[in-house]
Amino acid sequence: MSKRLVGRYVGAAGAVKGPGAVKGPGAGPGRWGRYPPAAGRVVRVDLDDTAARLGVPVEDVERVHRLAGDRPSAPLPAKADAPAILDRLAVRPEDAAEIMAGWPDPDSALWTAELRWLLDRSIALVRADLGGHDWLPPGPALPRERGPAWRHLYVYAYLALVDVVTGYHRDHGIADAVTRVTLADLGRNLAIDRRMRREGWPVMQSWLTLHARGGVYELGRLQHQRGGTDIGLHIPESGPLTPAAVAASLDEARAFFPRHFPDEHYPAFSCGSWLLDPQLLEYLPADSNIVRFQRRFELEPYQEPEGLDCDVEVLRFAFRTLTTPLDQLPRRTVLQRAIVDHLKAGGHWHWRRGHFPV
Ligand SMILES: CC(C)(COP(=O)(O)OP(=O)(O)OC[C@H]1O[C@@H](n2cnc3c(N)ncnc32)[C@H](O)[C@@H]1OP(=O)(O)O)[C@@H](O)C(=O)NCCC(=O)NCCS
Repeated sequence: MSKRLVGRYVGAAGAVKGPGAVKGPGAGPGRWGRYPPAAGRVVRVDLDDTAARLGVPVEDVERVHRLAGDRPSAPLPAKADAPAILDRLAVRPEDAAEIMAGWPDPDSALWTAELRWLLDRSIALVRADLGGHDWLPPGPALPRERGPAWRHLYVYAYLALVDVVTGYHRDHGIADAVTRVTLADLGRNLAIDRRMRREGWPVMQSWLTLHARGGVYELGRLQHQRGGTDIGLHIPESGPLTPAAVAASLDEARAFFPRHFPDEHYPAFSCGSWLLDPQLLEYLPADSNIVRFQRRFELEPYQEPEGLDCDVEVLRFAFRTLTTPLDQLPRRTVLQRAIVDHLKAGGHWHWRRGHFPV
């Protein structure tokens, strides 16, 4: 076995604590984590200092340290291969250019020691849950305006996990075409985040760990999430939600899960979405795709979801903004007019859950 050196990471500017560093109860001169940046070498990390330098709460850094521990990371693809990989992942040229410009080369000045630590441990954190299907933030939301390394850190983590999850798909006999279209949600999300002036990413970085762990599969029109007692349905932005496309996707899933995950049993499809709010029936024509989609479901009694404001979510999905004042939103479609009028009248939109038998 190779010798393990225990080093000490003190950050680029020495041991001085940056602003915002918080000492936890019982902390000594600092709270320390350890991680292996390369085989056979262990570096100690001051979690307070790391959090301060990353501009994030120390609890978030502790969480990464706790979940990733010293578990294995995964290497990024060779930089020379990255353009073709990004293309396969449907990453648009303007996003690909930024990702290539911020590439974490070993000698890149954009990549401080704490960013490298977070990238390495975020990959390990997600990889440790390969096959998992619950919501999993890969790390803290970063101040992305600080530059391309900050903006795309979790994209690099995703790229490192493409080979890992592709291997997982192969072990389950999943066709290359399904792997490809599933993982290409990266490009779709980056493009939407760009349209959203970067407001969308904090949710996307967690959403995309489902893809990187083999937890979600795009089968025709819908994405299907394994786990729990149901197949969870997600609706990507990819054209109209026609009943025929939905039916075909459900049929694909009915064959896909027994074939590739024979030990898992899913008696129902389920969905949690703004699309299932019955208040939409007051505004949308009966033959609209959203209404027809909604009719498939038996709704569960309404419960206000924790940590999610549906009034914000409808803005995300129907306007691709979270912050534009109601008066400045476009009124191009019946849905857009409905959303704004309802909110202006003092109403609220509801995130509803529903299910129907497989
Ligand atoms: C789900 C989705 C595909 C439905 O679109 P659709 O098939 O066109 O839906 P409908 O036929 O019911 O549309 C009815 C009306 O609402 C409009 N509409 C539907 N979705 C819209 C959206 N996201 N933004 C703006 N307008 C929308 C349609 O243009 C139509 O209005 P019009 O007759 O004035 O043109 C679409 O809303 C979408 O792409 N959403 C983003 C992804 C999403 O919300 N996923 C669920 C996350 S929980």
